[in-house]
Amino acid sequence: MSATAKKRAPLPDDIRAAKGGTPLVSLTAYTTPMAQMMDAHCDFVLVGDSVGMVLHGLPSTLGVTMEMMIMHGQAVARGLRQAMMVIDMPFGSYEENPAQAFRNAARLMAETGAGAVKLEGGVDMADTIAFLVARGIPVMAHIGLTPQSVNTLGGYKVQGRGDARAALVADAQAVSDAGAFAVVLEKIPATLADEVTAMIPIPTIGIGASPGCDGQILVVDDMLGLFTAFKAKFVKRYAQLGDDGEAAIAAYAAEVRARTFPAAAHIFADELPQ
Ligand code: KIV
Repeated sequence: MSATAKKRAPLPDDIRAAKGGTPLVSLTAYTTPMAQMMDAHCDFVLVGDSVGMVLHGLPSTLGVTMEMMIMHGQAVARGLRQAMMVIDMPFGSYEENPAQAFRNAARLMAETGAGAVKLEGGVDMADTIAFLVARGIPVMAHIGLTPQSVNTLGGYKVQGRGDARAALVADAQAVSDAGAFAVVLEKIPATLADEVTAMIPIPTIGIGASPGCDGQILVVDDMLGLFTAFKAKFVKRYAQLGDDGEAAIAAYAAEVRARTFPAAAHIFADELPQ
């Protein structure tokens, strides 16, 4: 799919049909201005639960709530015209049973206007994915490193190496068979991502996976250099906005203290000029 050829926001079926074509482009967004900036360039935008770490200073995604996702989802929706919006189901909102997942997925879509939800899990979540899809909720799956399971995975390690390779392949097959329209592959070996991409009929969206995936996604604050708490190996910084921003704030502080800001151009006269 090519961003320049878009006339309307793609639907999940358009994303599915992009399998094997021009790579799908995606970023996360959490606010209206960021969504506006990426709208013309992305096929879909993810309101990721990474919002908890990136914007709220949480140590992981586990503390992210439905209310946070809805508030950020509504903000992102106001900035999108051409890109599809996908929204993450936060930790604890879908794992209990398919009915709980449906209730919360329906609420996320109804209250934000998202075109699809994303949830983490493979074989273990296949029944839930099938339940949602059968009831009108398009699902993007997320396997490999699933950050909501950081405590059982033992950290943010590369997944699917050695003996774990077969389980990752089974996860990919399960979510595809269950009806997911695409699957995020996070932090797995490139050869495994290529194998899965060749094996399943739905697009694979890589993050720390392989250029051979059907699409790529990054956390926008990571790639803009705004989130600097840490940088994963798979992140490429396309800008250093964090450094530039801090330099700008330091310059502002110095000018305020020196009374050189505001200058004549920024203040008002008593009367309108004649
Ligand atoms: O929450 C998130 O940002 C994500 C990805 C980057 C895939 O799930």
